[in-house]
Amino acid sequence: MKNYDIAVYGLGVMGSSLAKNMINKGFKVAAFSKSEAEKERFALNGKEDSYVVCSTKEQMLSSLKSPRIIFLMITAGAPVDSVIEDLLPALEPGDIVIDGGNSYFKDTSRRYNDLKEKGICYMGVGVSGGEKGALLGPSMMAGGSKEGWEASKHILKTIAAYYKDEPCCTYIGPEGAGHYVKMVHNGIEYAILQLIAETYHIMKYGLNLEHDSILGTFENWKNSKLDSYLIDISVTVLEKMDEDNTPLVDKILDVAEQKGTGKWTLEEAIDRGVYIPTIFEAVFARSFSSNKEIRVQGNKHLSHSGSPYTLDDYEKKLGEALLAGVIASYAQGMALIAKASEENGWKIDLSELASVWREGCIIRSVLLSEVKESLTEEKENLMLSEAFHYITKLEPALREVVTKTSSAAIAIPALASALNYYDYFRMEQMPVNFVQALRDCFGAHTYKRVDKEGYFHTEWEK
Ligand code: 6PG
Repeated sequence: MKNYDIAVYGLGVMGSSLAKNMINKGFKVAAFSKSEAEKERFALNGKEDSYVVCSTKEQMLSSLKSPRIIFLMITAGAPVDSVIEDLLPALEPGDIVIDGGNSYFKDTSRRYNDLKEKGICYMGVGVSGGEKGALLGPSMMAGGSKEGWEASKHILKTIAAYYKDEPCCTYIGPEGAGHYVKMVHNGIEYAILQLIAETYHIMKYGLNLEHDSILGTFENWKNSKLDSYLIDISVTVLEKMDEDNTPLVDKILDVAEQKGTGKWTLEEAIDRGVYIPTIFEAVFARSFSSNKEIRVQGNKHLSHSGSPYTLDDYEKKLGEALLAGVIASYAQGMALIAKASEENGWKIDLSELASVWREGCIIRSVLLSEVKESLTEEKENLMLSEAFHYITKLEPALREVVTKTSSAAIAIPALASALNYYDYFRMEQMPVNFVQALRDCFGAHTYKRVDKEGYFHTEWEK
């Protein structure tokens, strides 16, 4: 019977949660997976009339209302191409294929263009919020076919998270625009995770605070401008004790992994010449952490002249430093998206994007309402907006935290990068005039002058 509203292809953790979300919101779902185990596991008690677990992809496709909407929730990369290839002979013009995984945006653009030629509406949708978000309401950044969006938005907007009465789901732009902004969302996520971790590290190893004091500080930050999902779960993590009643976090090896979205964000920033130092430091903190052995050797081999330090009013100062770092991270991510949007002709509405990050996604925070507000000001960078002018009040704390921690020989690259980011925006005079002189001296690369138009070359060594 062709009365199912949508197919969900892929019933892993994210796919089955998303399918259940759809069913709970009143949609009829044709569920399918290539994995027999995933199909057998899929069940939603009391809702049996609202879904069917299809034995074959043919059954899945023939169960759907027109236009047929197929939501793929499968591993990013080659599996998406192989599933599309497998479905293609059975697809018809007007069918809508949605990829909700963390796909590389260039792959999404390619698939969008290939399928467009065949009359199939392809969409790459960034879905954020983890397993819980998928089940209860994720933030969704739709990109690709506008026609596909018009035909599927009643479902996507209904299953999304809500900020007050606004769904955290919107159409971002054509081609891979939806996956692009999800990639940068993850870059910002990496940055904020690293900033929080460095702040924790300062309290534990710089200021030698007791675990309960650190926990209390994070709890207090929940009632400040830092109020966010990542601060909430920082408290959750710090509250968790191991079997021996000591903090579980202390038993976790300091080697962090990554799946690629942070690295893609850096590659994009380099290609587009957008400075995103906090995201850069966060990605490389994970990469550098992987070689624990070299750090153990270095600790013995390299002496230091640092000395212990104190920080009066640490909760306020560290909170302000962290907040400044978070603002700088949003600024960097938004600057990258703005440049990509301009260069790709995507016309992304950044303020609308900030709206859909206010709930459901991993980087959701009270600050995002201010980000939204700042982006309506049409300033070149969020750092220069009136909405964030209060960052000037946070700067003294950020500077004190960075300089004192650095004097204690503790590396806090993400916080330090946020300070550099701030100072770069203030530096009317940068040292690169000297770089230009050197380039011209060794390679006749020429330079511009402050007092005359044009390019100049000097015979420096005569
Ligand atoms: C989300 C998350 C999710 C995942 C990231 C990061 O928005 O729900 O960003 O997509 O956690 O891919 O993963 P890694 O840290 O493993 O790169």
